Amino acid sequence: MAFVIFRRLRRLIAAAVGEGAVVGPGTKAKKQSGSRAENASEVCQDESLTCGELVDKYLCPSRIRTLLPELLFKALFLKRNVPHMLISNLPDYRECSYTLNDIVQQLIPYTVGCSERLIYAFPQSRLAFICAPSCKLVPKLVEACQKKELKLHGCDLACNAIEPPFLMRPLGFYNWLMKLIGDSVVRDGEKIVLIKNISRTDSQKLRETLKEVGIHSVRNFLPLLEKVFIEFDLQADVDRLGAWYSQNGNPCHEIHRLKKFFPKMLPQSGNKPQEEPGSFFLTLKSHPFMFPTTTPTFVIPDYLTVRGQDDIEKASGSGSMFPTIMLTGLPDGFYKYEEVARLFLSYFPQQDLDSLYYNVLILPLQKRAFVLFADWTMCCKFAQSHISKPVMFGCHTINIHFVLEPILPASSEEMMYTTMMKLSDGRVPKPEFLQERLLRVQFRDCQRVVITAVLDLIVSAAPYVNFLTLANRMYIEMADSSGVTKVFEELQAIPPVAHWDQVQSIES
Ligand SMILES: *[C@@H]1O[C@H](CO)[C@@H](O)[C@H](O)[C@H]1NC(C)=O
Ligand SMILES: *[C@@H]1O[C@H](CO)[C@@H](O)[C@H](O)[C@H]1NC(C)=O
Repeated sequence: MAFVIFRRLRRLIAAAVGEGAVVGPGTKAKKQSGSRAENASEVCQDESLTCGELVDKYLCPSRIRTLLPELLFKALFLKRNVPHMLISNLPDYRECSYTLNDIVQQLIPYTVGCSERLIYAFPQSRLAFICAPSCKLVPKLVEACQKKELKLHGCDLACNAIEPPFLMRPLGFYNWLMKLIGDSVVRDGEKIVLIKNISRTDSQKLRETLKEVGIHSVRNFLPLLEKVFIEFDLQADVDRLGAWYSQNGNPCHEIHRLKKFFPKMLPQSGNKPQEEPGSFFLTLKSHPFMFPTTTPTFVIPDYLTVRGQDDIEKASGSGSMFPTIMLTGLPDGFYKYEEVARLFLSYFPQQDLDSLYYNVLILPLQKRAFVLFADWTMCCKFAQSHISKPVMFGCHTINIHFVLEPILPASSEEMMYTTMMKLSDGRVPKPEFLQERLLRVQFRDCQRVVITAVLDLIVSAAPYVNFLTLANRMYIEMADSSGVTKVFEELQAIPPVAHWDQVQSIES
């Protein structure tokens, strides 16, 4: 199956090359003679490669439509706001190595705000696509190159304006590039990931790892300088890669799924607790901190869905009566603890929200919550009321399930954190100095950007092991207790960043 796909892509590439599908104005597609396999052993190697790994052979500047320099000074060009450029004649990667930052450094005297994020470089083809911050900078850069002012390791860089019909965001770039090499299917990014800050060696290792862990539906593997795009045939394989990264990924790599949100699906048949999967999020050890997935990879304890009175009887008679309810089907987004906990207040002896901190545990990334009642009677009373009037969350109906396994109520934050981590991804936090290693963040408004802002600050200070979001509270487990001190030092040192007003407190 996989082979058939590779062959098809190879044919597509061959067709693009042969027919000169994309030819710049005034240039003829150069015959790529000699770029295909030279001998039989090379053919064998090629068979296992995807078109992304062969892209360097087909990508040459003459195939890319560039704009005539005269056009760049016309008012029309400046108005159209497409500051994309092709940089060619980069150094030969076999002779010297360079980084995206080296390229940025060359551009800085002529442009401000040029970012590594918006550079896609193909070292083997010695070219790079960049997005300049403004059109006004494009003629300046082209001129500087004509005057041979831009050099990298002794090579005079060449610069041309190009006009791809998209913003140079990762998905737009990927679709454009694939079209350029003859595959014009437009992807929505659901099955594509982009990994940034990854070295060539690491991306080769990752290619091997994919095979080792049995992720076989790689449709395309496109390594660039410090980046790699991976496209899969199966959505489940993207989810599996995310799960692998969540557990074993190198925190230096930044893994992004190019589609962040998934529409809620129709209810599945059968007794599955996740009637409306939509997307869940896995935690990562570095930016962007959360990976959207459609597969619930977290631990689902034994459960019995509450649909009618007989379910309560069934559970009561089973002997495994643990006064715990799991709520699933929580809507997208983050919620406030107070809003959710209020729904349960009347089922607890102390009618006080603060005392329920360890009893109402809302896991927004997993779209579920656990409620640990004080006794079975109250647990059943809640189930009873759900049967007569389903629990609503905003305008969403929530599904409720008896948990048929003991989940011990916590008496401390470390215990609660440990229990929730076991239920999240099965990893048990190391008990050593856990109390000293935990940070607690309280949010006023808990949007994803606020969480990201906090975690960005944390990782810049010290590494963390994992984090747990519980509605507008978040726990961060630092790798060691000195990390906690470093975070507080960092907090003192930096001026408050964007979204910081939404952070109420950070405590250890
Ligand atoms: C075929 O190509 C491979 C890789 O380029 C090379 O190592 C090998 O020596 C070549 N074999 C022959 C018979 O030319
Ligand atoms: C990028 O990777 C290098 C190692 O390859 C690492 O030292 C650096 O911290 C990483 N940068 C980020 C922002 O993670």
